[in-house]
Amino acid sequence: MIGLIERWRDRLPVTPRTPLITLGEGNTPLVIADRVAEAAGLPKGSVRLKLEGMNPTGSFKDRGMTLAISKAAEAGATGVLCASTGNTSASAAAYAARAGLRCVVFLPKGKVAAGKLSQAVMHGAEIVEVSGNFDAALRMANEAAKAKGFALVNSSNPFRIEGQKTAAFEIAADLGRAPDNHFMPVGNAGNITAYWKGYTELGLKPRMFGWQAAGAAPIVLGKVVKDPATIATAIRIGSPVSWKTALAARDESGGAIDKVTDAEILAAYRFLAREEGVFCEPASAAPVAGLFKLAKSKRVPKGLTVCVLTGHGLKDPGTTERFKPVLRRVKAGGAFKL
Ligand code: F0G
Repeated sequence: MIGLIERWRDRLPVTPRTPLITLGEGNTPLVIADRVAEAAGLPKGSVRLKLEGMNPTGSFKDRGMTLAISKAAEAGATGVLCASTGNTSASAAAYAARAGLRCVVFLPKGKVAAGKLSQAVMHGAEIVEVSGNFDAALRMANEAAKAKGFALVNSSNPFRIEGQKTAAFEIAADLGRAPDNHFMPVGNAGNITAYWKGYTELGLKPRMFGWQAAGAAPIVLGKVVKDPATIATAIRIGSPVSWKTALAARDESGGAIDKVTDAEILAAYRFLAREEGVFCEPASAAPVAGLFKLAKSKRVPKGLTVCVLTGHGLKDPGTTERFKPVLRRVKAGGAFKL
């Protein structure tokens, strides 16, 4: 399967000289979620889930990374670096391995989900464990990126945004139009910036609804959160880099940026797994939690809603330990009745 650079080449800043560092990313499913719709009091067919966990490293980060790493290779970089709550580092590590580049990742100590960390380890990234949160790790990565020959591949890198905007192109191509409402989680706010850029380039205008975790909701509160706290570690960010462009996406589209509690996130996370057969990571359940929250207060926007599920559930096995398995223990060969 071709990757997103080849599919959307004429809309991306690549030249015939750009090496293609690809793992076949993009082209992710947009599945109907009638159980979610029903639970939100919406008609059949009116909610769809964009399964970004189906990307090669299990998150949407691969869309930006294929382009950021290809451009770093084109520019002759010797290495790449990033700060990350986990997924960016997993993706950077994989694409850097493929490109034959060094990869250095700055991670907040103790707050990166096990699956993501194991990806960084296995792809051979050099890991800098920062005793602080993501915001502190990002400051260190920014400082380190001044070293000659290194490219910073956080979402402040414009090629990341360019690559990620292709998800909006895919949604529009699959639907044959824009959704009325676009729901997604918001952390560092690069992805909402990218989707809005993608839709805008097509002349489309869905209402953009971003969801932050209640304990890490600087954009909702209108101020930096010093000690962000949430079970959704992917979006545990107190000072988003793309704050302004997230506000622009919200305001230009007539949307909203709001927050959901960890309890609401976990309820949506479980609902998606049990009722829809879709296993996403906790941060990715935030938009569905948001839809349920709006439904409760009868404020669900009308029309077709796309919820972006940004990362795969297997990324974060730790969170599943909060849930009791349906489990029976038997002796081998012992009696068993269904
Ligand atoms: N969902 C997941 C699964 C993420 O990993 C992230 C961000 C987001 C949503 C939020 O996207 O930052 O563009 O608003 N993860 C980054 C990382 C911060 O380091 O992996 P955003």
